[in-house]
Amino acid sequence: MDTAQASAVSSKTVTFRIWRQDDPNKPGHFDEFKVPYTKGANVISCLMEIQRNPVTVEGKKVAPVVWDAACLEEVCGSCAMNINGRVRMACSALVDKLQQPITLEPMKKFPVVRDLTVDRDRMFESLKRVKGWIPVDGTYNLGPGPRQSQKDQSVMYVLSTCITCGSCLEACPQVTLDNDFIGAAPISQARLFNMHPTGKLNAEERTRALMGPGGIQDCGKAQNCVKVCPKEIPLTTSIAVMNREVSKLMIKDIFFKEEEQKASSGPG
Ligand code: SF4
Ligand code: FES
Repeated sequence: MDTAQASAVSSKTVTFRIWRQDDPNKPGHFDEFKVPYTKGANVISCLMEIQRNPVTVEGKKVAPVVWDAACLEEVCGSCAMNINGRVRMACSALVDKLQQPITLEPMKKFPVVRDLTVDRDRMFESLKRVKGWIPVDGTYNLGPGPRQSQKDQSVMYVLSTCITCGSCLEACPQVTLDNDFIGAAPISQARLFNMHPTGKLNAEERTRALMGPGGIQDCGKAQNCVKVCPKEIPLTTSIAVMNREVSKLMIKDIFFKEEEQKASSGPG
């Protein structure tokens, strides 16, 4: 590369429009920044560059932008945000593939904490609701666990890759800031733990947790969740599977209620 080419490359910049909001109750606004272009850069590395020098295109020094990130390899799920209007992981969003100016906004289905950071508690509370875990019976050696078929293992492995990023809730038209629809990820986790040989012991509890208000019946089948999941988890299949389980449980409840009524009314 000759000197002229090198200086052309180094003078190339990337423009970002970033949502700024000091706290959840204050109105927000956009700040525009330019960062030097680096081939192969991702959105997080550009945010780090802006953090080192938080000066807007108007030359105004502002507070550094706040965002969440930890693993930088699509594992922790903390960097989900709206990038050019579509929810995605900022650590795997490559600048070369995005149209400029690159607009960064926080997810809108979760309360904003500051700038691009949101409070994803809603998801963790939903995982508690469906008991998204396998109960451990003590810490002593129980010997080898029950065998699982390879077919089950291959289904469960994909479900277990959920990183609780919240993208599926963000893209879902049924999820709003002021309702309590549980969303696709916890439904899929209920399916995962219900398939586990030990998790099966709590399967009915998990399925019942999907029956109440804000449960699976609020799904409007928009299928946006499956389009945005960074792990390509078959969320619509999980919803269909759990819908069937909920229906079976409802029929069982009706049957037992009828039996109880017959028994209490006696033989004559
Ligand atoms: S199911 Fe996919 S989109 Fe939803 S939280 Fe898990 S990884 Fe994110
Ligand atoms: S930083 Fe962990 S998923 Fe992006």
